[in-house]
Amino acid sequence: MSIHWTPELSVGVEEIDNQHKELYRNVEIFFAQIQKGNGNGNLPNLFTYLETYVTTHFSLEEKYMTKFHVEGCGYEDAKEHKAQHRAFLRDFTAFKEEILENGPTSQLVDEFQKWIVNWLAGHLGKTDRGLGRFLRSALPFLKRN
Ligand SMILES: [Fe+2]
Repeated sequence: MSIHWTPELSVGVEEIDNQHKELYRNVEIFFAQIQKGNGNGNLPNLFTYLETYVTTHFSLEEKYMTKFHVEGCGYEDAKEHKAQHRAFLRDFTAFKEEILENGPTSQLVDEFQKWIVNWLAGHLGKTDRGLGRFLRSALPFLKRN
């Protein structure tokens, strides 16, 4: 299963797209390390690195959700969008705990990879794209990707 950012996933805001590209690179490296067996002694660090990047990225998006307005109206989907981020972190933690407890079995790692790739494609393609649309109307000077 390939883990790559593609232009169809663009949300039209350069800063967010750049973070999404970096996020995909980090996810790809994470799974490559585990599949090579390099993660065995280093699994907690691999998880922490990815989790930290995701958390930082979600914080940026969430800051933008509340910061800007279009004709007096804020970003309408902030609550639902933030809930999706929380759900991601909850499920990510569940996978992390299971993998740390039982070891990175190929079945568990495959399941985790499928989940993360599907989640990212769904979230970026719909929810983040909506945020991108809002930000572009709030900040017409934004650099487009
Ligand atoms: Fe998001």
